[in-house]
Amino acid sequence: MTIASRFEQSSFIALALSVSLAISGCTPKEEPATEAAPADAAAVPAEIAQAEAPAAAPAAVKEPEIVKLELAKLKPEARLGARLFYDNRLGNPGANLATSCRTCHIPAEATGNKRRWTDKLALSVMPANDRGSKLETLRNTPTLLDATTEKSFPSDGEYESLPAYLTHKLTSEHMGWRAGETDQAKKEIQALLMNDDGTDVLAEGAYAEQFKTVKNIDVVTLSPDDALNAVIASIIDYLNTVTTNKSAGYDAVMQQNRLPEGLAGEGDTPMDYFGRLFLSRIANEEGRVQMRFVADYDEEAYQGFKAFFRMGTTWSSSTNGEETNIGNCIACHVPPRFTDGKFHNVGTTQFEYDAVHGEGAFMNYKPAAPSDKTRSRVDAKDPEKADLGRWNIDPKDENIGAFKTPKLRNPAGTDPYMHNGRYATVEEAIRAHLKAAELAKAGKLRNADPELLKISGLSEKDIANMVKFFEQLNEVPPDQYRDFRISNMRIRQDPLGEATFSN
Ligand code: HEC
Ligand code: HEC
Repeated sequence: MTIASRFEQSSFIALALSVSLAISGCTPKEEPATEAAPADAAAVPAEIAQAEAPAAAPAAVKEPEIVKLELAKLKPEARLGARLFYDNRLGNPGANLATSCRTCHIPAEATGNKRRWTDKLALSVMPANDRGSKLETLRNTPTLLDATTEKSFPSDGEYESLPAYLTHKLTSEHMGWRAGETDQAKKEIQALLMNDDGTDVLAEGAYAEQFKTVKNIDVVTLSPDDALNAVIASIIDYLNTVTTNKSAGYDAVMQQNRLPEGLAGEGDTPMDYFGRLFLSRIANEEGRVQMRFVADYDEEAYQGFKAFFRMGTTWSSSTNGEETNIGNCIACHVPPRFTDGKFHNVGTTQFEYDAVHGEGAFMNYKPAAPSDKTRSRVDAKDPEKADLGRWNIDPKDENIGAFKTPKLRNPAGTDPYMHNGRYATVEEAIRAHLKAAELAKAGKLRNADPELLKISGLSEKDIANMVKFFEQLNEVPPDQYRDFRISNMRIRQDPLGEATFSN
């Protein structure tokens, strides 16, 4: 297993900058300007303003236009939300880095689907104000695909609703605010809605006009709290359109073979689903050699799919290794969205901690009470610093190092992976789980999730196959899906003759 070094992290930064370069068409600044941005310079989202300026590279002028064209497909309320999402005046106007939601959550429409509402950084850059020139976020920026379906936010589940999380978010350090500045943040948002003149590229009139037409809201009557709530409701209108489309190779193959794509509803368990999928349907279809594959979904991807979905029943040290090709992944990554919305420890924090403080160090770490130190990246100089995840919200031992199970669709646009962004590839993330499973079985993983014990007998071939399967979770645009679903549709031939694979 490789852990991304600082060097690798800096290449993530270079990549992220090249993504924003493609959008803005201007030279990225290594260091954000230290002085506060002048108020009028923030009148238009930076990337849009810069692309409009005559000094910007001419080739990039069309980029905001592409975004605008894509957003034109949305309903007016979602377009208003998108405009707010892209508007860096929503961030602290006095901060040393103009920030919008898009700064970290880079939308698919802005990148030709290369990024999926996240950047390419392990940890994102946020305004530092008086705390140096720039700061990194505590955690990796997650995708916003299907975010409105989550039961809690963010990865430690501190907030139980999206409006509650965004109320915090819009007045938080992600948007350039410090603790104690909440009232000021709300007043700035109120002033933005009232004073905007509607000249940025995504504007369809001043905010006052747009809120009136789209939401029948008179912004002049809004208190700072109301203004914040109106902005949040609009952003959620946009986020409601930020969804996966079930248009991946995975979906095509499930549909072509009439296989159920996920749990049947409340009360259905991953194990029930696994039983239905494997013991009846797949066994039958394979027996009659009638599985249908599409596009580049091949035998490897199919075997990877089975290893990913195959669940383990029991585990004991005496039977260890007897059960083979069992990923047990759907125990937590429950299809069709590949999450159970719950919190599990798969060892990420321990690996980060032990890499700095030595093997076994995390086992002996005794956290006192939740504090800034227990919500921190690991620090060689201070062994109290670690990110204990869910434990910060609910300090019980079983929550140490637990994070919300991430969704897995469109992995090509959401790397790097895990809450700390330390795994550059899906393969590294898979290998980290396998290492966690191995340590758990040896009693060497602190607070190991019991489901890790059931991961069993995964070979190198299984890992390679699973990586191939993950490629089948990348979606094609919905308008291309029909063609994609029937492209190169073919009947599965006899298996590769790999006797190790069973149903
Ligand atoms: C400076 C970077 C940054 C900016 C700006 C930013 N975010 Fe985030 N966002 C993050 C990070 C990092 C997380 C993960 C936080 C965690 O897990 O503790 C996150 C988490 C989220 C989540 C939770 C997703 C989940 O599945 O739990 C949502 C929703 C979200 N952001 C929406 C927004 C919106 C809307 C805006 C603009 C108002 C925004 N973000 C601005 C970095 C950013
Ligand atoms: C015990 C529950 C559980 C099981 C079983 C499990 N995972 Fe995970 N997985 C998680 C959690 C929780 C995370 C996030 C951990 C973190 O950020 O610290 C995660 C993260 C990931 C990620 C990174 C996603 C991202 O966007 O950051 C991948 C890829 C992944 N898992 C694949 C797998 C595969 C493949 C398997 C089966 C071999 C598997 N998982 C089994 C809970 C689980």
